[in-house]
Amino acid sequence: MTLGLPHAHHRVCDSTNDLAKKLAEAGAPHGATVTTNEQTAGHGRQGRSWVAPAGDALLMSVIVRPVLPRHSLASLAAGLAVAETCEQLRNLSARIKWPNDVWIEGRKVAGILVEARPEAQAEHSWMVVGIGLNTSVDMRHMPADLQETAGSLALPRGTDALTPLLDRLTRWFAAEEPEVVDAWRERDALRGSRISWSSGAGTATGIDNHGNLVVALDDGTTETLAAGEVHLSLD
Ligand code: BTN
Repeated sequence: MTLGLPHAHHRVCDSTNDLAKKLAEAGAPHGATVTTNEQTAGHGRQGRSWVAPAGDALLMSVIVRPVLPRHSLASLAAGLAVAETCEQLRNLSARIKWPNDVWIEGRKVAGILVEARPEAQAEHSWMVVGIGLNTSVDMRHMPADLQETAGSLALPRGTDALTPLLDRLTRWFAAEEPEVVDAWRERDALRGSRISWSSGAGTATGIDNHGNLVVALDDGTTETLAAGEVHLSLD
């Protein structure tokens, strides 16, 4: 079902995810979308913050309800939608660092934060999918610690990235899990790379059918990592 209506746009807000969660709690329908030019308290994954210079990034959150079994891979599906949007807007190739950082030429151009209402009965369940996509960010305006790792699509300011993104999200949220997994594997940026996390290190070998990352450890065994549990570093 189509996403993007109703649409609330703010000049500035704390976090589009926070606003969308409040709207979802208040009964906003499937597809309701919040965007802003600027966030004062943008959230990233694993408790990190998300920063983007005002007016140079697409900052959006969309409500999906109810949450269906096929949405178990929504975070991966959203990564596919963002990667395809990047390729539609620019003639370039986008890959995904597990679980859903979108990379272009080794730099992160987009991040995705999915937050769900956990305890709800199926028919009252919802999730908010928040996306920050650097569309026209000048890296000199980013915090120093991000200047070497963040990227941008280098689009003219004001380019409409929301319309193609909502179209791609609609397509991928309707897909069944095997299709999401197959398409995601085609864009896997980590496969074959040495990675480490707080309690281990090894070589990423891909994702399993549930979207978990499979890592070959140096002792010949494998470990399966679930998204949200680990913060990965590339060695
Ligand atoms: C990450 O890579 O850590 C996820 C970043 C998600 C950022 C987006 S920006 C729009 C939406 N509102 C937020 O507060 N976070 C998400």
